Amino acid sequence: MIQGLRKLMDKKDNIGKKNKKPWPTKDAMAQVYEMNLWGRGESDFYSGEGSHCAEIVSPYVRVLKSFLSSFKTPPVVCDLGCGDFNVGKQLTEYTSEYIGVDIVPNLIAHNKKEFKRKNLEFYCIDIATDDLPVADCAIVRQVLQHLSNAEVKRVVSKLADYKYVVLTEHVPEGGFEPNKDIISGQGTRLKKQSGIDLLAPPFNFKVKDEKEMLSVVLNNGKGRIVTTLYKTV
Ligand SMILES: C[S@@+](CC[C@H](N)C(=O)[O-])C[C@H]1O[C@@H](n2cnc3c(N)ncnc32)[C@H](O)[C@@H]1O
Repeated sequence: MIQGLRKLMDKKDNIGKKNKKPWPTKDAMAQVYEMNLWGRGESDFYSGEGSHCAEIVSPYVRVLKSFLSSFKTPPVVCDLGCGDFNVGKQLTEYTSEYIGVDIVPNLIAHNKKEFKRKNLEFYCIDIATDDLPVADCAIVRQVLQHLSNAEVKRVVSKLADYKYVVLTEHVPEGGFEPNKDIISGQGTRLKKQSGIDLLAPPFNFKVKDEKEMLSVVLNNGKGRIVTTLYKTV
């Protein structure tokens, strides 16, 4: 009798697990900012150490300035998942137009008030489900690392519309099995000893050229932050 009851409860438990639905990404990301899950800074919105730590940000800005300045005419840039804009604000002057987009409405409202430049616009969109702004170059910095494979796939299907894609991802140091799936949210694939490789399955991003622009190794075996330039045509 008791065994029968246990079997029934186990079955119920499994049904519960199978039906466990992840939060919508918009709600998950809004909660990250509301509850300061990536830490705190001077502003109400804080996109994490990767967006503020000088050892990570300074070399990135240096490399990006050099890349953006190499064009005869400064490129139009779309920053997909622009976050608190501590990084993006240092790049706008090297572009002819800079479009920052993010999924969190309050964050975009804050950025619109805080950062005003002639060539700068912000939009609240979900880069997995919405149409993306037209630009020469997409910057996707520490965004895909937080998204499920299903969402990354949707983003990748639209990246070929940009001539250049500058992708920054937090990955384990040394070799790793790429693209293990996660639920979209605060965390990354690092907890599964994995990281994003857009050229590998299930994404199979087709590119003409791939170049590592920068790799910053973090202290205490916390992995590395890699920036890669993809040329699509
Ligand atoms: C770790 S922050 C990085 C911010 C910025 N790219 C930087 O490097 O400073 C990741 C950002 O991606 C945004 N994001 C996550 N999923 C998104 C989606 N589906 N559409 C648009 N933005 C998204 C989050 O709201 C968050 O602001």
